Amino acid sequence: MNDIFTGADKRTHYCGTLTAADIGKSVVVTGWTQRQRDLGSLIFIDLRDRTGIVQLAFDENSDREIFDKAFGIRAEYVLCAKGTVRARGEGAVNKNMPTGEVEIAVTELKILSAAQTPPFEIVENSGVRPELRLKHRYLDLRRPDMQRNIIARSKITNLARVYFNDNGFIDIETPNLIRPTPEGARDYLVPSRVHKGKFYALPQSPQLYKQLLMYSGFDRYIQIARCFRDEDLRADRQPEFTQIDMEMSFADEEDLITINEGFIKYLFKNFMGKDIETPFLRMTYAEAMERFGSDKPDMRFGFELVNLSDIAASCGFKVFAGAVENGGSVRAINVKGGGDKFSRKEVDALVSFVKTYKAKGLAWLKNTKGEISSSYAKFLTEEENQKINERMGLESGDLVLIVADKDQIVFDSLGALRCEMGKRMGLCKPDDYKFMWVTEFPMFEYSEEDNRYYAKHHPFTMPMVEDLPFLESEPGRVRARAYDIVLNGTELGGGSVRIHTTELQTRVFAALGISEEEANEKFGFLLEAFKYGVPPHAGLAFGLDRLVTLLLGLEDIRDVIAFPKVQNASELMSKCPSETDEKALAELGIAVVERETEE
Ligand code: AMO
Ligand code: AMP
Repeated sequence: MNDIFTGADKRTHYCGTLTAADIGKSVVVTGWTQRQRDLGSLIFIDLRDRTGIVQLAFDENSDREIFDKAFGIRAEYVLCAKGTVRARGEGAVNKNMPTGEVEIAVTELKILSAAQTPPFEIVENSGVRPELRLKHRYLDLRRPDMQRNIIARSKITNLARVYFNDNGFIDIETPNLIRPTPEGARDYLVPSRVHKGKFYALPQSPQLYKQLLMYSGFDRYIQIARCFRDEDLRADRQPEFTQIDMEMSFADEEDLITINEGFIKYLFKNFMGKDIETPFLRMTYAEAMERFGSDKPDMRFGFELVNLSDIAASCGFKVFAGAVENGGSVRAINVKGGGDKFSRKEVDALVSFVKTYKAKGLAWLKNTKGEISSSYAKFLTEEENQKINERMGLESGDLVLIVADKDQIVFDSLGALRCEMGKRMGLCKPDDYKFMWVTEFPMFEYSEEDNRYYAKHHPFTMPMVEDLPFLESEPGRVRARAYDIVLNGTELGGGSVRIHTTELQTRVFAALGISEEEANEKFGFLLEAFKYGVPPHAGLAFGLDRLVTLLLGLEDIRDVIAFPKVQNASELMSKCPSETDEKALAELGIAVVERETEE
């Protein structure tokens, strides 16, 4: 039987806050039992709450009844203890815990809730497999590292609100039931009961609404916004996630960059006491691809891509020459120190790494303490080898890795390999924060599969003025006034200057193959709104989950989300998505024609 919690049991102190300064005080603490130790005539209980742990002491000789109660207490029992703070005995002081100099001599003890033995121990870095953690997320969230993460997230969200509010941004909520609009990923749809056969979509972002708020004259908008995207999940993606979403009027790239660099500076100062240098490095998309094979380069290390196509074009090795002949390229990275570090076997294993990025192979040259071995040198003349080595700046200890293929494959595979090698060489320190802006993104991306162009950012992004003449003739070469903020190889946020005229918006829709009819049907309200006076405006959204993950030096965004979903978009604790009852479906006018087959 649990004891009853009454008004007299109200906590006076959090467990983790008691120190030598509290000695002699009468206190009431509440929390969960970390462990109970029975030393015969003495019992100690470590009591835990979100601030930490304090030791409760029970002495057989001072109160038999309480002592007996303490005897039966097990891990995760919820307790309320009253008593006096006293200094621990000589030798019992624990310098490793903040409350290690004191303990509470308990005079009253209530068991507020008994507990079964949990499926895993509630300790930091428990090493428990993720599925079990997520199935019992409420227990996983009791662990001190998870508590720290979630509390840190709250602080960061709060700092975002304060910063933007202090800079004149107004917090406005936009709807979560909206018209389905194409914005890259697939929508989550919500059926309407009132309008049978019709659907709302959950927003992929508040994009159109925040633009409309600019038309309404709010001038500066901020929202900590929930977004929903039905896309394939990875370590840095969730089907529902949170953005720090902002928009400002009468503004261009420079205003946008300044205000958001200011936010990062403010966040680092106030969250971590760290000074971050601004302005951040800026690099065009084209340069980022050429030098790093990525539109989100990790700037913590070198190993830049080097173009060997001119040397390769005329060589006798078909793999190299053929790639150039087919319109592709041959590029390489020099992993400094990799030649001494990695065995032949490890280098061979890199071939399967690049194959996951569709590369057909990986050619390599290893200089191990001055001794050269290579997979390709034998196919080239001495002069060709000499030229490559010179261009790569080959020195003792180097590892040269070459991919020959279509440009896209070369960039994808070498870009990823570069990051992998940076990691393996120990160059990716989580507390080394290298921010940058990637600018001048292509406006459109061609899909071979669908045989059409898609907007790389979104269709409301303003093309660069100098590229406007190519909007109809060569959409592929049009650059956008779009920018991403990148930190250590992760896209933290993205935004753009927006289109604010009907004429240009119509041209962009046309370039995307959206007919006038379709544009009117889907975006009629936006085109209509353009008629009534629209300010130039620009905006950006940070991925809050990613931002928190990186600030805490973590790798998996699930560690900063209280109740995340797993790879297949389900939630293991409540087991959603789930089937629903026939009555609910009937009310919605929906019949299920295909069901997931249970494994
Ligand atoms: P974008 O699509 O680039 O832009 O999204 C902005 C940022 O949101 C984060 N993000 C995600 N985080 C977790 N899980 C996901 N599935 C996920 N998808 C995106 C990323 C990304 O940089 N409306 C525009 C912004 C604008 O133009 O103002 C938008 O949503 O960190
Ligand atoms: P092969 O002629 O297939 O024996 O290949 C000789 C070397 O070139 C091996 O090290 C292969 O891994 C490498 N290689 C094969 N295809 C490519 C490619 N597309 N890019 C770079 N290296 C490759």
